[in-house]
Amino acid sequence: MFWFASEPQGLLWELLLMGVMLDAACPPTCHCEQFQVNCSNADLTTFPIALPLNTRRLHLNSNGIAEINSLELNLLSDLVYLDCSHNRIAEISRLHFIGVVKLVYLDLSYNNLNRISWTTFGPLTNLITLRLDNNQNLSEIESGAFSTNVGLREVNLSNNGLLYLNTTSLRNLEGLKAIYLAGNPWECQCTIAHLSEWMYENNETFPDEDNTLCTLPKSMVGIPVSVALIKIFDICRTPLGYFDYLFFVIVGFAIFISGIVVASLAGTVMVFFEHHKLFKDDDEEDIKQYRSDKTTGRFTNINL
Ligand SMILES: *[C@@H]1O[C@H](CO)[C@@H](O)[C@H](O)[C@H]1NC(C)=O
Ligand SMILES: *[C@@H]1O[C@H](CO)[C@@H](O)[C@H](O)[C@H]1NC(C)=O
Ligand SMILES: *[C@@H]1O[C@H](CO)[C@@H](O)[C@H](O)[C@H]1NC(C)=O
Ligand SMILES: *[C@@H]1O[C@H](CO)[C@@H](O)[C@H](O)[C@H]1NC(C)=O
Ligand SMILES: *[C@@H]1O[C@H](CO)[C@@H](O)[C@H](O)[C@H]1NC(C)=O
Repeated sequence: MFWFASEPQGLLWELLLMGVMLDAACPPTCHCEQFQVNCSNADLTTFPIALPLNTRRLHLNSNGIAEINSLELNLLSDLVYLDCSHNRIAEISRLHFIGVVKLVYLDLSYNNLNRISWTTFGPLTNLITLRLDNNQNLSEIESGAFSTNVGLREVNLSNNGLLYLNTTSLRNLEGLKAIYLAGNPWECQCTIAHLSEWMYENNETFPDEDNTLCTLPKSMVGIPVSVALIKIFDICRTPLGYFDYLFFVIVGFAIFISGIVVASLAGTVMVFFEHHKLFKDDDEEDIKQYRSDKTTGRFTNINL
């Protein structure tokens, strides 16, 4: 009785878990074998509940699921394979994955995702394959989004809405074998320099490199991202901002002004010096004249 009273929440949680376990059954339109639940093409519009807790492979592809039920999913702590492709999932976050850390394969292709935050895949430290392709509105993947997925070998980001991708966290993944980037509206400006350089130097990591093309700006349309940097190298080698140009204008102006000042100073000094020298020459002439006059006079006097 005492134990019941002191831990009401823990008890409630255990009863809930037991209830879930007792209720665990194969959802009506799915096929279940040992450790595997197959709900593909099962006309589901919501995430199935009361799945067997020992499920390791879960196929939810090709349904109308709009939301992953994080409470249900996180009960499946042995899950290694999750296919949610071809659904209508618009949002995923770290909360959806905190209980499924054994996940090795995650497929979220053909959904309505629009953004991946740097924390979204944080708990999935065992992930090897990640499919995020064909989310046409997926235009933002925050830098650091894959920084904890240290075992990642394959990432599919093709046919999304990406204009730009910060490559820092991907480049740090030592086991990365393949990244698919074709079919995105890549904007080939200086911001894409890091990606372009990486693709150019490691083409074996980008199997669809030939189809990863610039769509912006107009002058770059159709050019592979991997060679974009070469085309705009002169502009991007030392990216200059507005203040750099302002700096150059000010420095240029200062040099121009100081040039004028120095020139006119030098001119003044020269004129002064010339003038002075002229005077000095005149004086010397006078003195010479005087001396010679005196001498001549003396000699004249003596001679006389
Ligand atoms: C899942 O079931 C569908 C039929 O409903 C079948 O076509 C598909 O091959 C099954 N997938 C797996 C992995 O067993
Ligand atoms: C993308 O977003 C637009 C507007 O935000 C929406 O109309 C469209 O249905 C979305 N497309 C997909 C594939 O989700
Ligand atoms: C990419 O993200 C990292 C942080 O993860 C940041 O330090 C770096 O400046 C970013 N690179 C670009 C080109 O924005
Ligand atoms: C990546 O996505 C593209 C586009 O959907 C698809 O054609 C390709 O088979 C996928 N590749 C892998 C290895 O997942
Ligand atoms: C990578 O580039 C080298 C040299 O340009 C080329 O020989 C090779 O076939 C390319 N590999 C791939 C996978 O595209």
